[in-house]
Amino acid sequence: MILDGFTTAQVIRTKISEEVSRYKDIITLAILMVGKNQASQIYVRNKEKACEEVGIKTKVYQFDENISQKEVLKMIDECNKDDSINGILVQLPLPGHINEEDVLDRIDPKKDVDGLNLVNQGKLALGKKCIEPATARGVITLLKNNNIELYGKNVVVIGRSKLVGKPLALLMLQENATVTVCHSKTQNLKDFTKKADIICIAIGQPKFLTGDMIKRDSVIVDVGINRVAGTLCGDVDFDDCKEIASYITPVPKGVGPMTIATLLQNVLKCYKIQKNLLD
Ligand SMILES: NC(=O)c1ccc[n+]([C@@H]2O[C@H](COP(=O)([O-])OP(=O)(O)OC[C@H]3O[C@@H](n4cnc5c(N)ncnc54)[C@H](OP(=O)(O)O)[C@@H]3O)[C@@H](O)[C@H]2O)c1
Repeated sequence: MILDGFTTAQVIRTKISEEVSRYKDIITLAILMVGKNQASQIYVRNKEKACEEVGIKTKVYQFDENISQKEVLKMIDECNKDDSINGILVQLPLPGHINEEDVLDRIDPKKDVDGLNLVNQGKLALGKKCIEPATARGVITLLKNNNIELYGKNVVVIGRSKLVGKPLALLMLQENATVTVCHSKTQNLKDFTKKADIICIAIGQPKFLTGDMIKRDSVIVDVGINRVAGTLCGDVDFDDCKEIASYITPVPKGVGPMTIATLLQNVLKCYKIQKNLLD
């Protein structure tokens, strides 16, 4: 069965839109972008559009490729201080002369919509309430909305990035799954994937996970987004796996829309934290 992230995301976005319209304040997300990376420009435009559709205002700050780190940090300080800004997102990647961690860690944790600064990542590691990276939470939401049991399941996460693999493994642990994290140095990957009830893959290698690597009736979550000869594909060989898996996410319209919907949820969550509206 196909795990339809697109439709699930639409339902979430409608709920967000209804909630946003109930608040008197204008909820605002600041997006900082350095340079003119083509993919980043598309991602930023998509985020702006998604915000607009649910009634969240965006302010995009576009900086020249050669801007100094000091200037970027200064801008973040200003956004941190500005009460009219509820969320801050720094579009990655940043140019090589700027230290990504220094920039992300400068964001006020209460405005850190990507959940990538030290405070939110630390809280996540400790299982405390925090702003969680959107893709990881989006995967959990998609599975839960489709009544896929995580409790006690054998979950293999392939990829250990700060953005996806690590936070997803931590959230799976919170759900009481038994989690194995694999990466580029893992030996005999197939020995792990063959035993998995659920595989989540985020490695950026087109069609890497093939049918012979998975167990019958397992659940396959494909986070990867790769462009091959002008078309998008995931890290899973979809055609090869779809008859073996019980559930599988497509690319596009799988995890991608869930990431955007969860980002919108995070903006709303930041707003509520700032206004003491969370339990
Ligand atoms: N759908 C969405 O919304 C969404 C959101 C974010 C990212 N993505 C996509 O997800 C993919 C991963 O993104 P990312 O930011 O996590 O990438 P990343 O930072 O480059 O991390 C890739 C991870 O994959 C591991 N890896 C690479 N080759 C491998 C192999 N052959 N076998 C096992 N592990 C391997 C790496 O291992 P090492 O740590 O050992 O190097 C690393 O941990 C990309 O395609 C990206 O475009 C999609």
